[in-house]
Amino acid sequence: MDEKYLRVKELLKENGQEQLLNNFEKLDINKKNKLLDEILTINFEQIKKLYMNTKKAVSFNEMKLEPIPYVEKDKLSLEERARYEKIGEDIIRKGQYAVVTMAGGQGTRLGHNGPKGSFDLGLESHKSLFEILSDTLKESFEKYGDYIPWYIMTSEENNQDTIEFFEKHNYFGYEKGKIKFFKQGELPVLNEDGKILLNKDGLINKAADGHGGIFVAMRRNAVIYDMRARGIKWAFIGGVDNVLVKMVDPLLVGLAEDAKVLAAGKSVVKAYPEERVGVFCKKNGKPSVIEYTEISKELAEQRTEDGELQYGESHILCNLFNIEAIDEISKDKLPYHCAHKKIPYMNNNGEVINPETPNAYKFEAFLFDAFESLDDMVIMRVKREEEFAPVKNAEGVDSPETARKLYKEYHNL
Ligand code: UD1
Repeated sequence: MDEKYLRVKELLKENGQEQLLNNFEKLDINKKNKLLDEILTINFEQIKKLYMNTKKAVSFNEMKLEPIPYVEKDKLSLEERARYEKIGEDIIRKGQYAVVTMAGGQGTRLGHNGPKGSFDLGLESHKSLFEILSDTLKESFEKYGDYIPWYIMTSEENNQDTIEFFEKHNYFGYEKGKIKFFKQGELPVLNEDGKILLNKDGLINKAADGHGGIFVAMRRNAVIYDMRARGIKWAFIGGVDNVLVKMVDPLLVGLAEDAKVLAAGKSVVKAYPEERVGVFCKKNGKPSVIEYTEISKELAEQRTEDGELQYGESHILCNLFNIEAIDEISKDKLPYHCAHKKIPYMNNNGEVINPETPNAYKFEAFLFDAFESLDDMVIMRVKREEEFAPVKNAEGVDSPETARKLYKEYHNL
C-alpha cells in the first residue's frame, strides 16, 4: 500500500488534485484502498478538458442552423400508413426489433427515494413507471406473439435497486429471459476551481455520465453483441419517465426502413418558447437537437411566417436506431455538456457539506448528439396527448398530476 500511496500522491501532485488525500488518514483500510484504486483509474487529461469546457459558453454562431423536415403522422393517407406499418410489422414479427429504456436516473426531483422507474404514478392500480412501460410491451406480445427483448440501462447508483424491484414484482409478468440490465458509466464531479470532490464517504464523488453514455455502455456490456446474436436490426431507445411512450410503433420503423436512414425520432409541437424540451434542427446540414438549457431566447422565440415556432419540433426522447448506427456511434465517446449543480461533498476537514447554491459541475453526454454523425434521419410529428406525458417535477408542469391526467384520458380510465 505504501508504494501505491506514494504513486497516487505523485500523480495527484502532477495534476493539481492533492486535496483528494486530505482526509485519507480518517478512512478505514478498505476505503483507503478503494480511494487509491479510484484515483488510479481517473483520466486526468479528460478532467482538465472537461473543466476548460465549463468556461466556454455554448454558441451556435459558427453553425448553420436550420429547421428540420418532418413527417406529420396525421397527414399520412390511410394507404401510406398501412404500407409503412406493414414494413414495420414484418420487422417486428421477424424478431428484428428491441427496446431499450434509459433508467439511470433517480426519482430525486419527484421526492422519491429510489430508481425513477420505481416511482408510483398514483393511479388506483399503484403502477410504477416500470410497470406502465411493461404494459405496452405486453400488448405487443399479444399482437406479435413473442416477447420483444427489453434492455434496461441503469446506473451505478440504482442498478441493484432496479434489479431487486423487478424481482420483487416478478418482472411484471414479462419473460425474464427477455430483460437484460446494463450499467451506464460515471464521471467525477468538479468544484468551481476544477478540483475533484470527495463524496460523503470520503471516496471520489462521481455522477452518471448522462444518457449519451448509452452507446459506449452498450458496447462495454456486450449489449450490441447480444442484439446482433438475436438478429436485431432496429432498437427503440427511450426514457423511463414518459407514461405514454409507444415503445413498439411499426409506423416509425416502417418510415425509417423505407427512407433507408439509420435513425428516426418522434416530435411533438413545442407548446411555448420556454418549454423545457430540446428541439430538433439541422446543424451544418446534419440532424441534431438543441437542448433547452442551451438554446438562446432569440432562437427559441423565432417564428415562421405562419406564426409557428421556427424551432418547434420537440424532442421527446423517443428515438429509433439501426444496429449499424449504434455499433458505429459506440466506438467513440459523445461530447460532454456541463451542468452547474448543488452537490453534497466532504470538505478538507472531513465535514459533509450540503450546499444551498450550485457549487459543482457534473458532466453529461446527450444521446441526441449522436444524430450529428448521421447524414439524415426521419422525424415523425405525433400528437402530444397520444405520446407525451413526462413525469419530471414533483408539482406543476410535467408532474405526476399532469401525467396521470393524460394517462387516464388516453386509456379512458
Ligand atoms: C430530456 C431531454 C430533452 C427532452 C426531454 C423530454 C436530455 C438531456 N434532454 O430532458 O431534450 O425534450 O427529456 O422529456 O435528455 N437518464 C439516464 N442516465 C443519465 C441521465 C438521464 O438514464 O445519466 C434518463 C432518465 O432516467 C430519463 C431520461 O434519461 O429517463 C431523461 O433524463 P432527464 O435528465 O430527466 O432529461 P430532461 O432534462 O427532462
